[in-house]
Amino acid sequence: MNLKGLDKGRLPGHVAIIMDGNGRWARLRGKGRIEGHRRGRASVRAVVEMSRKLGIPYLSLYAFSTENWLRPKDEVHALMGLLEHYLTVEQPKMMRHGIRLLAIGDRSRLPVPVLQTLEHAVEATQHNKGMTVLLALSYSGRDDIVRMVQRIARKVKEGVCAVEDIKEEMVSAHMETKSIPDPDLLIRTSGEMRISNFFLWQIPYTELYITPALWPDFREAEYLEALLEFQRRRRRFGRTDEQIAQPLRSVGRNR
Ligand code: IPE
Ligand code: IPE
Ligand code: MG
Repeated sequence: MNLKGLDKGRLPGHVAIIMDGNGRWARLRGKGRIEGHRRGRASVRAVVEMSRKLGIPYLSLYAFSTENWLRPKDEVHALMGLLEHYLTVEQPKMMRHGIRLLAIGDRSRLPVPVLQTLEHAVEATQHNKGMTVLLALSYSGRDDIVRMVQRIARKVKEGVCAVEDIKEEMVSAHMETKSIPDPDLLIRTSGEMRISNFFLWQIPYTELYITPALWPDFREAEYLEALLEFQRRRRRFGRTDEQIAQPLRSVGRNR
């Protein structure tokens, strides 16, 4: 595709996406919500493929929140089925393209076949050296923080570390995203101006990009637009314009 003006040297190191608007996409077409979810998979393929081709090392996809368990049973069931199918079908492609799959979220709530397929895909791709796709499934930003507190509290209780040892880096290292840099760009489709319990700790200086496009319509051209907008932003990390030499990635935020 024509990458009109995209600077390959200043791409985000980590893109996170709240993939929203499948239901509205379907309703606009007089179809059931599940058809929207089905169409959404092609957008997932498009962003994974484009991120890989551009050399973006990390892509996080918010696929299902803990609150989404409250949806009607048949919709949850269909979403789980689509997820299982996606993982099965895409695994050979992930192997071919060196994509490593990681998953975060409360796995204990996933139906057994989905869990097995997920674990299989994560294990099969663990040594792949290309990009990392992080799937947030049954994920909640607050849950992630609560579990981090529990892990650290346990270590303090066991005498592995002292209260004074608790620093920002240690907190990050005990989140589910422990080995992954903070997102540089967070995209939300469908125009909603909220985080909906996605990453909370991980996005202190992440650039937010909210587009009215519904997720099934978010393809290469829309993704390119988000990346171009990211490159137009001036990330100051609290400093003044004069002090910064355009650092576009989160790395070195405190230095
Ligand atoms: C996003 O689309 C998919 C999930 C949250 C699983 P929605 O299903 O939330 O679509 P809208 O927001 O109802 O349009
Ligand atoms: C956020 O979308 C969750 C995912 C995209 C997985 P929702 O549709 O669940 O968010 P709300 O309910 O509109 O905030
Ligand atoms: Mg929604």
